[in-house]
Amino acid sequence: MNLVLNTIGASVDNDMICSLIPNKKEVEIINTSDMKIAHCMGCNQCWLKTPGVCAIKDDYESILKKLVQADNLWLVSDTHFGFLNYKGKRVMDRIVPLLNMTVGFRDGWMRHELRYHALNIGLLYQGDADHAMMEDWCKRTAANIGGQSLGAIALPSTFDQPFNSKLSTLNSKLKHLVIINGSPRVEKFSNTDKIIRSFAKGMEEAGITWELHNLSNRNEWDAAREAFLTHERTLIAFPLYVECIPSLMLEFLETLPKERQHPGELSFLLHGGMDEGFEFRFCERVLQGLPSQFGCSYGGTLIRGGSFSIRTREPAIKAKIIAPFEKMGHLFAQNGNFLSPEVKKFAGPKQYPWLVRKMVSLLFLKKVNGEFEQFAKDWGCTRPLNYKPYSDK
Ligand SMILES: Cc1cc2nc3c(=O)[nH]c(=O)nc-3n(C[C@H](O)[C@H](O)[C@H](O)COP(=O)(O)O)c2cc1C
Repeated sequence: MNLVLNTIGASVDNDMICSLIPNKKEVEIINTSDMKIAHCMGCNQCWLKTPGVCAIKDDYESILKKLVQADNLWLVSDTHFGFLNYKGKRVMDRIVPLLNMTVGFRDGWMRHELRYHALNIGLLYQGDADHAMMEDWCKRTAANIGGQSLGAIALPSTFDQPFNSKLSTLNSKLKHLVIINGSPRVEKFSNTDKIIRSFAKGMEEAGITWELHNLSNRNEWDAAREAFLTHERTLIAFPLYVECIPSLMLEFLETLPKERQHPGELSFLLHGGMDEGFEFRFCERVLQGLPSQFGCSYGGTLIRGGSFSIRTREPAIKAKIIAPFEKMGHLFAQNGNFLSPEVKKFAGPKQYPWLVRKMVSLLFLKKVNGEFEQFAKDWGCTRPLNYKPYSDK
């Protein structure tokens, strides 16, 4: 069955959607534009407390039940900044209950295990975007859920537009940095927060002042916008969500003014659960185009994997994971950007070699997945982590 999630609404006609889908048999189109759908807030309950069931009680549960019956998911989305807009990304960030917490290697890459069957993913997009990038996002997202990409199709009126920003153009020395935490997870539980504090410690040692705004708290959005507009340098630190920027952060970015009176530079600190640096390169391409959209130059992106368990680790291990960011804070204080060769090295291995993957599978995965089981028990979970709450197709 083809399930189409139309996040644009009635302006995209159902007949047109059907005419573009290659296999037209059994198509169900859901117009999500009028539905009540919140952003994923990264609470992890769908993995560790109520396996397969999202903690947010809104209209998305009916979509999840349909997804469990589908072979192909077609997303219909508008674009913004050359990528999916926040409404399109939002329905994709919420597919996480289709996966299990437990991890294993699939096709040479560390992936979460599937709760149900594999799902193929296709995209119909409307608006400016780099077509090759949209194709890539489909491939990467489909691979995460065990399926194939059905391809990205541009709706009429779309044209290819590469999004590129000028590399760092500021000559002034860094004195103060505005830091925005783009994680949807509340500050107290956010791994990004722990990373930021280690990074900022490194900057403080070099005499740089900083201020922090958290997007998980909408009351801080006005102050974040104001700080971004009135200071030269801003760093947005955030976790990878379904291969790219979390939908909540995309929504915030869509509210930022496009022009500014003072010169500005935007840099990014991108981290995520998986270890391998290659996993983050797609998102980096999207980030490279963002600063020019707000009249800023691009100060580069610091990338690091392996952040999944920071907040749940005992203090000594947590300190070991976040310590390297302090050094990078020092470096940022000197350069004012992430354009030095050290930053490239910091991202870690592109992909683990075959032998390392074999060793990790044999020696560590059982232990890691066992820790997840224990963690779930501590959270009061009474079901196995691979529990299927909705009937499979
Ligand atoms: C909805 C969702 C999607 C995620 N997608 C990815 C992903 O595609 N790749 C990845 O490496 N990690 C992914 N993660 C893991 C987070 O990037 C990681 O746990 C991060 O440390 C969370 O930081 P935070 O606590 O500040 O939100 C995802 C997490 C959530 C909740």
